[in-house]
Amino acid sequence: MTFPVISKVVVARFEGDLVDAPCDCLVVTVGDGTLSAAAKAIDGKFRDWLSESIKAGTIKTAFGDVTMMPSLSLFANDPSSVGAKEWLLVGVGKMEKLSRGKVYELGAIITRRLVDAKRDRIVVSIDGTVPAEHTDSLVAGSISGCDGQAIYMSEPKLKAPARIEFDGVTEELLVQGKIVGDSINVVRRLVNEPPNHLYPETFADAATSVANEAGLEIEVWDEHRLEVEGCRAILAVGQASKRPPRLVIMHHRGGDAASAPLAIVGKGVTFDSGGLSIKPSEGMVDMKCDMAGAATVVGLMMAIAQMKLPINVVGLCGLAENMISGDAYRLGDVIKTRNGTLIEILNTDAEGRVVLADTLDVAVQQKPAAIVDLATLTGACMVALGREVAGLMTNDESLCNEIEANANQQGELVWQLPMFDLFGEHIKSKVADIKNIGDGRWGGAITAAKFLERFVDGIPWVHIDIAGPAFVDSPKPHRDAGATGVMLRTLLGWLQARAAR
Ligand code: BES
Ligand code: MN
Ligand code: ZN
Repeated sequence: MTFPVISKVVVARFEGDLVDAPCDCLVVTVGDGTLSAAAKAIDGKFRDWLSESIKAGTIKTAFGDVTMMPSLSLFANDPSSVGAKEWLLVGVGKMEKLSRGKVYELGAIITRRLVDAKRDRIVVSIDGTVPAEHTDSLVAGSISGCDGQAIYMSEPKLKAPARIEFDGVTEELLVQGKIVGDSINVVRRLVNEPPNHLYPETFADAATSVANEAGLEIEVWDEHRLEVEGCRAILAVGQASKRPPRLVIMHHRGGDAASAPLAIVGKGVTFDSGGLSIKPSEGMVDMKCDMAGAATVVGLMMAIAQMKLPINVVGLCGLAENMISGDAYRLGDVIKTRNGTLIEILNTDAEGRVVLADTLDVAVQQKPAAIVDLATLTGACMVALGREVAGLMTNDESLCNEIEANANQQGELVWQLPMFDLFGEHIKSKVADIKNIGDGRWGGAITAAKFLERFVDGIPWVHIDIAGPAFVDSPKPHRDAGATGVMLRTLLGWLQARAAR
């Protein structure tokens, strides 16, 4: 493995006098009718300049309005005060509108404004403008804002600050936020890596180094072990690639030995050419992102290990590269999957469900209390829900409600699609137990989920199709284009809630 996946931004609590603290930039939040501690201090020191400017409308306080300026401390003519070189005034709008999701965005908006040049020390003052219980989300967002997709520019495009200090955040929430931000960046880094660097073997290496660092147990099945284990579906998808498949199993054993684990399963197709059912260039160009589900599993396992959640969780990544060669799997092939189901391949581009068939079966073998899988599974899910919304499909309404409630809490967008029996009819094969595509393209996200359902053995299960939100082509003020790390906060929230009950 030749690429680093864990970033090095240091975060700490701020101690001292805000306006006098020597730093590169003092970040001062201002809301509609609220001023952060630093904003108040500035007002005190500089004859109400800030509150007067807000009143006059020259400094804006709506959410996301940012004003960068040289610090007035520079002109204070007081040798005892050193102060910041620059001030970044950041509007937060109305405090009651600052949900966890918005606060995460706010953190990222702040740092994304500050990565244009190398800065050593940034002080962020939000005390009094952001709901205290969401400040972990601010820290997480500010770490995610330090990283982006331009990871291979000879001249680095984003210059992450060396150190960010927060005023108004408790040590506990600071640590939580740091773990979440770092984990999201691990996910994004893995997804943003080009497919010539990141393939099943190197993904497994990266997962191993994350596991070692976080204190997780990890097992990697190579192609020989996959053969012995009967994972012929994973092997079939990967058989045209020079890069053989892998299966990664990570264990976090935080609960008592007797309690059933929760299983998190990810689709890890490190590049999806479509195989013999080859994709056109426009459809193939971003297909390095097809391992985002598996990357999310790694990031999530890292977070729960670092947080030492008192539950047992097993994370599984099914890894293969979907390529073309004289040995590619074919249309018409019938494959016996690990659980014995015979599947007929009628489109080699519907490979994610084939990889997940075996991966889910390995999860079932762990006798989990519930299974959640994440996959960039279908273009049809994007047709149904757009580019920003993940699709939820389930065999267990109450489990699905738990996931949905956590997504709403974190501000990640999800929408449930129905799993009516009639969709199961669409994957009946004329020659084998099931086929890997539906009849026609209608309801494609759901027919894919119906296929997966055959491999969860009736265990409570939620499938999350992240084809839309996992990887995006345009930036927003709070995030770069490319990988997003979507659903990590939702699933972490869910696991924390499970650990607390
Ligand atoms: N990886 C793709 C789905 C995808 C598309 C993810 C766009 C992210 C962005 C998946 O393997 C795929 O090719 N699905 C096919 C299924 C079809 C052949 C039944 C699709 O959606 O077209
Ligand atoms: Mn495909
Ligand atoms: Zn795919």
